[in-house]
Amino acid sequence: CGIVGIVGNQPVAERLVDALKRLEYRGYDSAGVATLAEGDIARRRAEGKLGNLAQKLAAEPLAGTIGIGHTRWATHGAPTELNAHPHTTDRVGVVHNGIIENYRDMLIDLAKDGYQPTTQTDTEAVALWVSRELARGAQPEQAVSNTLKKLRGAFALAFMFRDDEGLLIAARHGAPLAIGYGNGEMYLGSDAMALAPFTSRLSYLEDGDWAVITHTGATIRDAKDAIVERDVQISQTSALMVDKGNHRHFMAKEIYEQPETIGHTLSHYVDMGTEQVSVREQMPFDFADLSRLTISACGTAFLAGAVAKYWFERYARLPVDIDVASEFRYREPPLEKNGLSLFISQSGETADTLAALRYCASQGQHVASLVNTVESTIARESHVVFPILCGPEIGVASTKALTAQLTALASLAIAAGRARGVLSAEQETELVRALISLPTAVSEALGTEDQIMDIAKRLSKAKDVLYLGRGPMFPIAMEGALKLKEISYIHAEGYAAGELKHGPIALVDEAMPVIVVAPSDELVDKTLSNMQEVAARGGKIILITDPEGAQTVGQGVADVILIPHVSSFVAPILATIPVQLLAYHTAVFMGTDVDQPRNLAKSVTVE
Ligand code: G6P
Repeated sequence: CGIVGIVGNQPVAERLVDALKRLEYRGYDSAGVATLAEGDIARRRAEGKLGNLAQKLAAEPLAGTIGIGHTRWATHGAPTELNAHPHTTDRVGVVHNGIIENYRDMLIDLAKDGYQPTTQTDTEAVALWVSRELARGAQPEQAVSNTLKKLRGAFALAFMFRDDEGLLIAARHGAPLAIGYGNGEMYLGSDAMALAPFTSRLSYLEDGDWAVITHTGATIRDAKDAIVERDVQISQTSALMVDKGNHRHFMAKEIYEQPETIGHTLSHYVDMGTEQVSVREQMPFDFADLSRLTISACGTAFLAGAVAKYWFERYARLPVDIDVASEFRYREPPLEKNGLSLFISQSGETADTLAALRYCASQGQHVASLVNTVESTIARESHVVFPILCGPEIGVASTKALTAQLTALASLAIAAGRARGVLSAEQETELVRALISLPTAVSEALGTEDQIMDIAKRLSKAKDVLYLGRGPMFPIAMEGALKLKEISYIHAEGYAAGELKHGPIALVDEAMPVIVVAPSDELVDKTLSNMQEVAARGGKIILITDPEGAQTVGQGVADVILIPHVSSFVAPILATIPVQLLAYHTAVFMGTDVDQPRNLAKSVTVE
């Protein structure tokens, strides 16, 4: 989950481990470094904590002034030393974050030429592919460029080469990478944190960029291989645990991290090899025996639960009740025997959610929580804790925690569906594949930013905004409205599209923007007819849909924001991206304090 690299003039092995330590906060389960000494790539790797790797290096030191290092969070293949990065062949060493979706096809192709993997990782397919390119006579740059064009997925990569003491190549496609500029040395890292001890002069690769790094500098190319300039900035990181990277606000950084954080959450809940969900937590209950699922949470976490209700009911036929924790705790509802109570909380400290948890525990319910902070009170008082693993979220308005919560909840709904005999193994695989496609789709959806900035400029002049959605898009409409309220202070409401004519339609006039969240699914036509009701009254419609949905759009739509088509199962997760960007850019136009909006707190530990 963390990448570092040094093209240096002093030994690098220990410095690589130090840099990796600064990435520990991202979570990992094995680690490794590789260097080039006397013309050969040598590596040390270890399961578990970085201390184990440091011990190995102390016993068997690695010389060399160029190297790469990695902390791994297992996705494909168990967290063993064998599967730990760097992955090497006799020609190349590679470290990788993210998921290579088409690694199986690549391995089949490579096998024709006798290239066989020795690990269960997707990364090795990349190492072998580059090696084959090199064996066919390509120079390192060309070999990497050819390989990058083959890869599908969201990833960051760093390569070193047997025959070159002064060359690293890095590539960014959905997972972040920064280049550090030193004196006669150059560095590479997943973020400024890793590089803080070496240099404060950094430039961030943009999506699709790849860079050739030597002792004296870096040549950066974009996805079309054209040479591009990326600003060198002075990072303020050293003392801070996390920084904004090249983003203006933490919220923007956290929105942009989502291809990576979703991949991270997925790697915990999904076995990418078998394409099945694997719940690692010891559960003191069986999904098959549950009578009911009761979800309580606050704010954005509540809306994650509201989407999950659709999933658990549809894919696991498990009845779900959901309520905001502040209501639930005083309602003191009767709870059925063999019920599971689930509490969703990024911080794990929200007072109302905790009180709701204590009530359910006192009523003999099974108590589960879905948290980002696993050391929190809510986690400690739960019988089973499901982590969302998205790293620290600094922006008060929740973004990456929501998509991580949704990713984990979708996985748990699949697990429940299997246990309850609702889903076959084939259906499970189909749903898991949809989940695995998300990091790439999210990366693409982030590409709507320029268009959204344009719309946000107009939205910043509105007094009231209505968001409409149907089915699992209804909570996403509410999330869009919540985000806009929170950070731009514009009044907004999220409504079930079908409820439009029972009230809010009275508000619609030419001055009223109406944002319709409707990617194509079995309900899209119904939502689009509700949209026409708005158009007929002069409302300014902004439609968030996919290419299929866009085909059926009639007259009167001011803007269409197109996101990639994905399975309707994961569409609510993807549709979150444009509503986040819309709120963010509207707030930026309004000039509000985006990361710390007035009157709001990140963690509400009072009632
Ligand atoms: C506050 C935050 C929201 C968050 C909610 C629940 O209102 O501003 O972003 O969704 O609390 O927080 P939790 O930590 O329980 O998820």
